[in-house]
Amino acid sequence: MLSPSGKELKNKIANKAAKVSVIGLGYVGLPLAIEIGKAGFSVIGIDVNREKVNKINSKNSYIPDVTKEALTRLVSQKKLIATSDYKILKEIDIVSICVPTPLRKTREPDISHIIDAVSRVSQYLHQGQLIILESTTFPGTTKDIILPELEKRSLKVSKDFFLVFSPERVDPGNKKYTIRNTPKVIGGITSQCTEIAKFFYEQIVEEVILIASTQEAEMTKLLENVFRNVNIALANELALMCDRLEIDIWNVIEAAATKPFGFMPFYPGPGLGGHCIPIDPVYLSWKAKTYGFYSKFIEFAEEVNKNMPFYVVRKITDALNIHKKSINGSKILLLGVAYKENVGDVRESPALDIIEILSQKGAEVIYNDPYVPQIKIGERKWESLSLNENLLSQADCIVITTAHNDYDHKWIVENAKLIIDTRNATKNLSNKEKIIKI
Ligand SMILES: NC(=O)c1ccc[n+]([C@@H]2O[C@H](COP(=O)([O-])OP(=O)(O)OC[C@H]3O[C@@H](n4cnc5c(N)ncnc54)[C@H](O)[C@@H]3O)[C@@H](O)[C@H]2O)c1
Repeated sequence: MLSPSGKELKNKIANKAAKVSVIGLGYVGLPLAIEIGKAGFSVIGIDVNREKVNKINSKNSYIPDVTKEALTRLVSQKKLIATSDYKILKEIDIVSICVPTPLRKTREPDISHIIDAVSRVSQYLHQGQLIILESTTFPGTTKDIILPELEKRSLKVSKDFFLVFSPERVDPGNKKYTIRNTPKVIGGITSQCTEIAKFFYEQIVEEVILIASTQEAEMTKLLENVFRNVNIALANELALMCDRLEIDIWNVIEAAATKPFGFMPFYPGPGLGGHCIPIDPVYLSWKAKTYGFYSKFIEFAEEVNKNMPFYVVRKITDALNIHKKSINGSKILLLGVAYKENVGDVRESPALDIIEILSQKGAEVIYNDPYVPQIKIGERKWESLSLNENLLSQADCIVITTAHNDYDHKWIVENAKLIIDTRNATKNLSNKEKIIKI
């Protein structure tokens, strides 16, 4: 049975009178705030980054999945406002926390952004508020860390306020699966918490999946990302093996993927990138270790994936060697520094590792990426050079690190001396003699 404050919140949700706040307006938070606004709720976005706050209020999107039109519509209707001031939470009914969960230098989970956001939420916590954690984190974060912080001020979960974990599953750049048509998993501290969050998300997404606890919901997200991480590592290891056996791994995967059951294709590449797949499994293995459990799969996958940039550099070395050249002194052009195609996110991108290794070996490294105007590695900065026949033909070696749709690979190959293709982007091209695939 719902408490009176739970019933009241449900009524507000039904009438779209509930005010929602999304904390952390990045790749996850901003698209979510837009969807909540589109569903008819008033959304106040909170971010510590004032530049992002100003951009939103002046209707400028900085996330490729959020169109200027969608943002302009909501901001003009005052359905979406951004601020850095947490005081607004006094008036808010539903809070969704989407702050980053990176790793420390020691490769341990850094949940300081969650702790910071929750301590501020706790300061303004009031009767009838629903708090949702969306950031990916290790099992137990919601129940063992957030709940005690929120209950510090004598309000009781399930009676006065409601707390759930609901992992964000957004896939940046994916046009087919968006927040709306990707099922939303919810696990609450109690069944009443789950019931209210379910009712809220039903207004926003097409399907809601309920799970028994916050720990199960946290673990669900980690299973999804460990699954990708380990399977990509398997594809990467098989790529190395096939290289030795002189078999084309890409043809093999394509053939295997014709099996209509029991197989799902994963592809090799220059290494893992992004804020999720390389990081989230480490959250889980770290937590498991505190229970004396060592995950061999996760650790081995990390080792294989982290080695891929070095493997790419070895392929470049071998390819230049055929041309009687060395890395030292060669001009090497990377096409794409984003961690995946059609996005501008360079977090954990393997292209950055490749640039660093090549530079250390004395190469003159240059890059083009239509989504990333500049990068900084340590103290050194690079700018994306404009792509033209001159740039292509001057490079001793071109590395396709990210297969953005913007690239005309036929034209690139025609004008190149030598290509290392880490994405099978040149699959359908004929002049294979210049191309070396990983
Ligand atoms: N990027 C993805 O594809 C993806 C997909 C699913 C889940 N996730 C998870 O979602 C979470 C957020 O990821 P992201 O990619 O959106 O990160 P992001 O870095 O793009 O955005 C996070 C935002 O939070 C802000 N922020 C940090 N601390 C804050 C605080 N205390 N108060 C207010 N704002 C604060 C930052 O300024 C930033 O704008 C992470 O846990 C991530 O693992 C990410």
